[in-house]
Amino acid sequence: MPIQSSTQIDQSYNYEVVRRFTLATLFWGIIGMFMGVFIAAQLVWPELSFGLEWTTFGRLRPIHTNVVIFAFGGSALFATSLYVVQRTSRIRLISDGLARFVFWGWQACILAMVISYPLGITTSKEYAEMEWPIAILVAVVWVAYGYLFFGTIARRKVKHIYVGNWFFGAFIIVTGMVHVVNHLSVPVSLFKSYSVYSGATDAMIQWWYGHSVVGFILTVGFLGIMYYFVPKQAERPIYSYRLSIVHFWAIITLYIWAGPHHLHYTALPDWAQSIGMAMSLVLLAPSWGGMINGMMTLSGAWHKLREDPILRFLVVALAFYGMSTFEGPMMAIKTVNSLSHYTDWTIGHVHAGALGWVAMISIGALYHMLPKLYGRSQMYSIRLINVHFWMGTIGTVLYLAAMWVNGITQGLMWRAVNADGTLTYSFVEGLQASHPGYLVRLIGGGIFASGMLLMAFNAWMTIRAGHAVENLRIDAAHEPAVA
Ligand code: HEM
Ligand code: HEM
Repeated sequence: MPIQSSTQIDQSYNYEVVRRFTLATLFWGIIGMFMGVFIAAQLVWPELSFGLEWTTFGRLRPIHTNVVIFAFGGSALFATSLYVVQRTSRIRLISDGLARFVFWGWQACILAMVISYPLGITTSKEYAEMEWPIAILVAVVWVAYGYLFFGTIARRKVKHIYVGNWFFGAFIIVTGMVHVVNHLSVPVSLFKSYSVYSGATDAMIQWWYGHSVVGFILTVGFLGIMYYFVPKQAERPIYSYRLSIVHFWAIITLYIWAGPHHLHYTALPDWAQSIGMAMSLVLLAPSWGGMINGMMTLSGAWHKLREDPILRFLVVALAFYGMSTFEGPMMAIKTVNSLSHYTDWTIGHVHAGALGWVAMISIGALYHMLPKLYGRSQMYSIRLINVHFWMGTIGTVLYLAAMWVNGITQGLMWRAVNADGTLTYSFVEGLQASHPGYLVRLIGGGIFASGMLLMAFNAWMTIRAGHAVENLRIDAAHEPAVA
């Protein structure tokens, strides 16, 4: 690599941090998904706990959820947002040191979570299990990330702020806000704290946070990915820029109110539950607006789907996004929720979003970025991407079908009553009926996770034959389709 003058370096992108987060996404994706496969196997064969407290389902489950959401999903969002913000702002990140801090700081947060959960050190709040020292570290790294992202936008070389950055920006602000508010607690020792909230207020704040994790990390952040990578890969401008702005404001206005749909038929006041239900129903409109905007970007380019498996990943992700954002509002209707809640239907809905949308769009974006980050014209093997695509799709469909059948079966069996008012089925009978579904989910999940190994191999071969791109000169010609 020739030595460059400082002005030239000023004019280059920081790809080092993007490369690191890209590899971290792959690494944590494999760990988190195989952890999912393992806990899925525990639900088929409970003996797999090996009689040890550290390896029980209850302790391993939060490792799966935290690793897939914060380590896999989080790294994918760090990688893509820091890539997109530089390219669309035509400027290098404002600080290399801060970028390095964000990367290593985030890895430290993840390691602390992964170590503390099996030891039973947890707040017991879903997706917010981390005890207070880890929560503080997360907040510090998050502020640094926000400074890096918004600082770069502030110094952008173009007037316009590309819409993808608006989505990334909202994801950063709201995630930081709900994380801090939900984690307010009184520490009683290094590893134990008590929430400052109690009772129904505690539940409400927790699901305001929990739904914002869904809404702003798993949805708004990944929509940022969609708005950049779909047009780039399709080599078409976004279908309607105006629609993307309406989509943005509608989605961030509505999402924050939908949390109470997680607390139907609980001690939460009924009016709050009804607001949650109504806001969830209205959410269908902007969600589908966004999906249609992404899909229609392919107008006139549908033929590309035949030969481009990366584009297929991105488009199928949008289809699953549309499907899960139709299913979600339906499940938010109280009468539907009285059947679906506590059943595997919820787990099916979660993974329609998690595998079909979040994982698929991240995989597509990674395949798009990898060759660019390592100076190659394309991935080592397009055929392997195609195989991966089918493994991902088949794995997701098996997972979802199994959970829908299980969920509806469970819901109906639990509510069936005899003429004399006694329950028709015992809980164990419901469990026995679920067993085949758990096996099918295990197979589907296993196929999906194995696809990630293929991706890792393909990435490794691409990297081996390429070279790290350090100082790519910033040039408007690099951004033809989106900005
Ligand atoms: C190979 C793929 C995967 C498998 C086999 C798998 C398996 C599982 C299993 C067995 C559970 C526990 C279900 C239960 O408690 O009954 C679970 C929960 C969960 N998984 Fe996955 N998972 C996979 C991928 C993912 C991904 C990629 C994400 C996110 C991006 C994700 C997010 C979640 C969440 C949020 C929950 C908690 C759901 C809830 O509490 O309702 N999973 N997963
Ligand atoms: C318009 C959009 C959506 C609405 C209105 C919605 C609604 C719902 C509802 C009603 C539940 C069940 C709550 C319960 O009975 O406990 C739920 C659970 C869940 N949804 Fe969605 N959903 C939407 C989109 C998504 C997307 C795109 C994802 C992405 C991964 C997602 C992830 C989840 C997760 C992780 C849970 C389980 C939370 C838990 O109990 O741990 N949702 N959603």
